[in-house]
Amino acid sequence: PRIAVLASGRGSNLQAVLDAIAAGTLAAEVVGVFSDKPAAAALQRVAQPLRWSANPKNYPSREAFDADLAQAVAAVRPDWILCAGYLRILGSAFVDRFRGRTINIHPSLLPKFRGLHTHARAIEEGEREHGASVHFVIPELDAGGVIAHAVVAIDAGDTPESLAARVLGVEHPLLLAVMRLAVDGRLAEHGATVALDGH
Ligand code: GRF
Repeated sequence: PRIAVLASGRGSNLQAVLDAIAAGTLAAEVVGVFSDKPAAAALQRVAQPLRWSANPKNYPSREAFDADLAQAVAAVRPDWILCAGYLRILGSAFVDRFRGRTINIHPSLLPKFRGLHTHARAIEEGEREHGASVHFVIPELDAGGVIAHAVVAIDAGDTPESLAARVLGVEHPLLLAVMRLAVDGRLAEHGATVALDGH
């Protein structure tokens, strides 16, 4: 299967996918990395012909940017679109075109803490557990069907930074587990949680 990755930042989740492919533990191919941040480190993780980026400020509207992005993504004929640290809301023109094959990794136990600053909010709310979720992307932010969660404990001395690091450590294996289901054809959007063991 062909995977297109959308990323705005560092790209450690993308790297986890690339490493698994290189190690032969994920039978897939990254066919493009797409960013709304031309300086994103994520872009540097793949060869130049696989990179696409554009600055949304150079577009007259969100729809115009999304249309260009959607066209570029469609051009690489992806089976799956993975949002991995993609920090821009995708409009319905994009989401509807790739619905059912676009997934996102989000650093909270959805439906808790949609949006930004999830680690600080989890600490502030006095949560004892936190984690990451992989879910299908729908036009409503971080609201699509959850595929799988990974849970970590929140410790008494945690800061948003220490908690973010702990969550990132479980994000990568979580994402790979879900990507393996996807490439095995065992992932379909049906609004319910998919058990990672396949049961
Ligand atoms: C991850 O925590 C992801 O869940 C969130 O942004 C971070 C991206 O990290 N949406 P990276 O760019 O994959 O290193």
